[in-house]
Amino acid sequence: MSYLKTDHPGEKLIKWLYYVTSSVRIHQDNNQLVRDGVAQLKACIGELSPGGDAAIQIWRGRFHIQGEKLVYRRDTFAVINEMLEYFSRRGLGGLCFLPQAASAPHESVVAFIRLLNECAKREDASGWLDLQLEKHGLSWVEIYRKPDESREGTGAGTGQGQEMSPEEKAQKAYFHAIDTLKASSGQSAGAMGGIRKARRLAQTIVDMARSDSALLLGMATRQDADNRTYVHSVNVAFIASCLGRRAGLSRVSLEHLAVCALYHDLGRLGNIEETFLAEGAAGKGEQDRMERHSLIGVKEILKLNAPQPLRSRIVFGAFEHHLNCDLSGSPRTHYVRELSLVGKILRIADVYETLTSGQGNPPLAFTPDEALRLMWTERGKSFDPLLMKYFVSVMGIYPIGTIVELSTGETGIVMDYLSEADRDLPCVMLLKDDGQGGFTRGEKLDLSSREGTGCAPERTITRTVHFSELGIQPSDFFQQGLQAVSPASEIREAQADQSS
Ligand SMILES: [Fe+2]
Ligand SMILES: [Fe+2]
Repeated sequence: MSYLKTDHPGEKLIKWLYYVTSSVRIHQDNNQLVRDGVAQLKACIGELSPGGDAAIQIWRGRFHIQGEKLVYRRDTFAVINEMLEYFSRRGLGGLCFLPQAASAPHESVVAFIRLLNECAKREDASGWLDLQLEKHGLSWVEIYRKPDESREGTGAGTGQGQEMSPEEKAQKAYFHAIDTLKASSGQSAGAMGGIRKARRLAQTIVDMARSDSALLLGMATRQDADNRTYVHSVNVAFIASCLGRRAGLSRVSLEHLAVCALYHDLGRLGNIEETFLAEGAAGKGEQDRMERHSLIGVKEILKLNAPQPLRSRIVFGAFEHHLNCDLSGSPRTHYVRELSLVGKILRIADVYETLTSGQGNPPLAFTPDEALRLMWTERGKSFDPLLMKYFVSVMGIYPIGTIVELSTGETGIVMDYLSEADRDLPCVMLLKDDGQGGFTRGEKLDLSSREGTGCAPERTITRTVHFSELGIQPSDFFQQGLQAVSPASEIREAQADQSS
């Protein structure tokens, strides 16, 4: 087995996976070669991420281990290519070994490897494998579907083999997330299907956070009073994923964060709260209500028919999202010494979304920049100071979706920031009066552009306006027209054309 000599733990993991998937084809489970291979595979998993997740993912035809591209060497090239082909034949985009994998029994690992081999013969290989993992209780490993297949699973595909625009993909994922939450609420004990869908959705949300966070943040400005908690939960998932990405979370951690965010208010979805009250729980005041839904959420999550490792992670979001950084807030607890990273991120996303929602009684009508300034003054007390810095850097001084009035008298919506340096000079889409009391999409401008004006920007922002004043949904302007490229991309392309 000289070809297995390598120092890179990711490379070793792929090679031992290759070795074990090959050896179980010709040997019995208890064969010594199979035993040795499985032991080595588990050792690699433990070495790669002691006590954490070990993720293998395929991105643009290359393996990425723990989010880092695997560098190929000449003597490993053949085995790695063979494994790329192996994953591709099974419609797999990768595998995630949870911390329990390093201590999983030999029989359990062999059972997984045999299922992995077997699934290639099935029509929907990755879907079949996912079901088998659930059926056999193999909760120490999770699969990633290939991006094209996961779109289908999230309802984000066209179903006609057409490439979707980023706006179309974001819109479909958004509404599919709401449907998934509706399906999950009130039927937690049997909601495995909902959890599985939520996990696939989380993969789509993370893909979008990595490729076009401005579009995701724009979509997260959507409001719907009739579906307030559902819309809020999806918005929080979108915002938290962008913040988590800026904070440097691995892809696997981001996906767990997104699932956690989707379920963070499970205690107030559907009629769960009413059922709890009917069962005799006391207290109907706002403080009790706040305290109660965090605890109901925990109770409901513990009932979810989901793998225990995933359940134990998402429970943090429900329990901690109303706790401040200094541990004041709800629920009052003596058990927590410090909030988890997930809890700290959710706290920020949850408060920001609530402050800017225009919902509540009386309605909270902070413009996004006002909400950000208010939250900034609370850093260290309510919010983790470093995460707040990341949050401001993700959102910009005028967060995506803010309606701004310009020095020229024009009104526009902040769509993106093209310059990392000028976080107060966004890219804006002007609002054009449609002559019927509404607005349509107008010209797109980069306020950081100093072309033809010496050094001062041509237009500046004079004030911000709450969306309810104009009676519009900023999120509509991130979807309307469903163009093939996002507004910021259009400007980037136009600038590239001019400079070439
Ligand atoms: Fe909440
Ligand atoms: Fe919330």
